[in-house]
Amino acid sequence: MKGIIMAAGKGTRLEPMTKAINKHLLPVYDKPMIFYPLSILMLCKIKEVLIIVNPGEKESFYKLLGDGLQYGIKIEYAVQEKPNGIGQAFIVGGDFIGKSSCALILGDNIFYRDSIQSLLSKSVRNLSGATIFAYHVSDPKRFGIVNFDKKDKPISIEEKPKKPKSSYAVPGLYFYDNSVIDIAKKIKPSSRGEYEITDINKYYLSQGKLDVKVLSKGSVWLDTGTINSLMQANQYVQVVEERQGRKIGC
Ligand code: G1P
Repeated sequence: MKGIIMAAGKGTRLEPMTKAINKHLLPVYDKPMIFYPLSILMLCKIKEVLIIVNPGEKESFYKLLGDGLQYGIKIEYAVQEKPNGIGQAFIVGGDFIGKSSCALILGDNIFYRDSIQSLLSKSVRNLSGATIFAYHVSDPKRFGIVNFDKKDKPISIEEKPKKPKSSYAVPGLYFYDNSVIDIAKKIKPSSRGEYEITDINKYYLSQGKLDVKVLSKGSVWLDTGTINSLMQANQYVQVVEERQGRKIGC
């Protein structure tokens, strides 16, 4: 399996901090944001990682992470020419993925939980179709939202619904088989003009090939897209690291 980190996008909700610096290079407590998603891919035992960035930004990411050799992995970089959405990751990264399956993680998502490694290895093993996650949140209008039937089978996924059918958000960590490249070619831009990852997930759902694993209460999933959520992520990492004397995302 190969891994992609989506680190493109303008980060407009974090301006002016993101005017001159890519959001994913901003600090989350004691390390750059991108360390967190990168360490999740490494926990999946993924050895080949593609980081997708904005035009003109490859150099600053390379300065930080190089070719990955110091971490025992191989890191490549690709450019998304325009901020056309997460769903384009599989077009930009098509050659990199080749004939493999692929994990995609959003560069501003932070995951932390006990025994995350076993959860991830279950998702990577024998993947046929797609595996995504669901996490109970207080503000479902901000995310992709998955709704379940009485038997906990996923029945719908909507991107940032005005009237959410559930409070289960889809976090930015997705595992796909190789057909994701063809599916990404089929989807059309949404009303906000983006190729939505939710539309790719909807396609797998319509084919009966979407596995949704609900993350337990004890799991932590934070995104850092707004100033408040970025602040909370900083504080969370600080509290846990100082209390436990152990690093997160390192
Ligand atoms: C994106 C996805 C959304 C997902 C979220 C997780 O939202 O479109 O489905 O729930 O990431 O962070 P965006 O960051 O584009 O608002």
